[in-house]
Amino acid sequence: MKRTYCRISGEPLVEVVEFGRQPLGNGFLEPKAFANEYFFPMAIGFSEVSMMLQLIEQPAPEKMFHDQYAFYSSTSRFMAQHFKGFAEQVMQSKYLTNVDPFVVELGCNDGIMLKNFAEKNIRHLGIEPSLNVAQEANKHGVRTISDFFTERLAEKIIREHGKADAFLAANVMCHIPDIVGVVKGISKLLKPTGVVMFEDPYLGDIITKTSYDQIYDEHVFLFSALSIQYLFGLQGMELIDVLPQKTHGGSMRYVLAHRGAYPVKESVSELIAQEKVQGLDRLDTFKVFQTNVTHSKRKLVTLLKDLKSQGKRVVGYGATSKSTTILNYCCIGPELIEFISDTTPIKQGKYTPGMHIPVVPYEMFKSNPPDYAVLFAWNHAEEIMAKERDFMEAGGRWIIHVPEVKVL
Ligand code: SAH
Ligand code: TYD
Repeated sequence: MKRTYCRISGEPLVEVVEFGRQPLGNGFLEPKAFANEYFFPMAIGFSEVSMMLQLIEQPAPEKMFHDQYAFYSSTSRFMAQHFKGFAEQVMQSKYLTNVDPFVVELGCNDGIMLKNFAEKNIRHLGIEPSLNVAQEANKHGVRTISDFFTERLAEKIIREHGKADAFLAANVMCHIPDIVGVVKGISKLLKPTGVVMFEDPYLGDIITKTSYDQIYDEHVFLFSALSIQYLFGLQGMELIDVLPQKTHGGSMRYVLAHRGAYPVKESVSELIAQEKVQGLDRLDTFKVFQTNVTHSKRKLVTLLKDLKSQGKRVVGYGATSKSTTILNYCCIGPELIEFISDTTPIKQGKYTPGMHIPVVPYEMFKSNPPDYAVLFAWNHAEEIMAKERDFMEAGGRWIIHVPEVKVL
């Protein structure tokens, strides 16, 4: 059994699931780049001390986040609404009551959340290393610097802007390998009365739904309330509230503050108790998860091969980074999935990482509808199903793999 060390506790990490050779989740590429495509051995490990499930190896951040980053947050209308709601929750909270509040957001991408603060003239700053999306944010009046957030950058922000009332993040805290450095930076940057609010895909949902596609290069950590409490506790901070979210197939919004600054809500002890019942503090749980992942793979591959032998046309819907894990782990290529349609211009005309399925504009799906579509953007099912009534009415069928592989 392979053992390395937990990025938080420094204790040995026990490998629990191995996904084989994987490319970059968002590494959509052109044929000329196939020969030199980057791969890394992907596996996850667990430490019963920090209770943090994490990638054993992760590619360097600069390989994943750069001036051609393929993920634009604003491609989902539902997510734009979601982040408007998040921003409103912060604005209406007791944490933003002083005369000139200052809000910092980590990984603000194209400004999907901060634009709500910009519109209200609230002092804000986005930190976004991927230059193309940071420029998009700036274009929309969201003040953004293109850099990786670190403890040193936190000190620079304090010098230039002062301390923050609210520190926000969505779907990025789980991307950062030096999370201990980030939490040290946050605890310095935050006013004594400041609050941290961030959300990420929730480990409890990943285990319950066997949504193993949440595991890919960018997601170095899979968080639970237990692991977040441990991580922030090391820097004198505490979890004061937890708010489950429907986004990304089940996320958790964590609210944290300096220890003693605010009362701790009952929701925290309730969720911690629930996580212990679910076994998110124990190695055994992840062994069961491994069995479920293997089962899911077998079922999906069998289904796609059966459809192929019946002469059915199958395509993918949404060239998500999550799908990179499924396609490469299950070894599904263009012989089983004809193309994947996606609305993001930067992905179109390229090929999926590793398995090289063509990514085509959404219009191809509309003009040439298949018999079956694998819903790789299953986390946007509500929004997509509402949009694609015609496909279903014409006899088209969806394939999903969470919580289990099935044809809808
Ligand atoms: N918050 C957005 C974007 C999530 S994608 C949303 O929820 O839709 C993750 C983003 O975090 C990417 O835009 C990436 O460039 C950025 N990111 C990655 N590492 C970072 C770091 N160390 N500091 C700040 N942002 C980072
Ligand atoms: P998403 O699931 O949000 O993220 P990740 O890459 O982190 O797994 O990605 C959704 C992808 O699906 C994105 O590339 C845009 C695309 N998409 C469509 O093509 N049509 C749609 O209606 C929606 C909502 C998304």
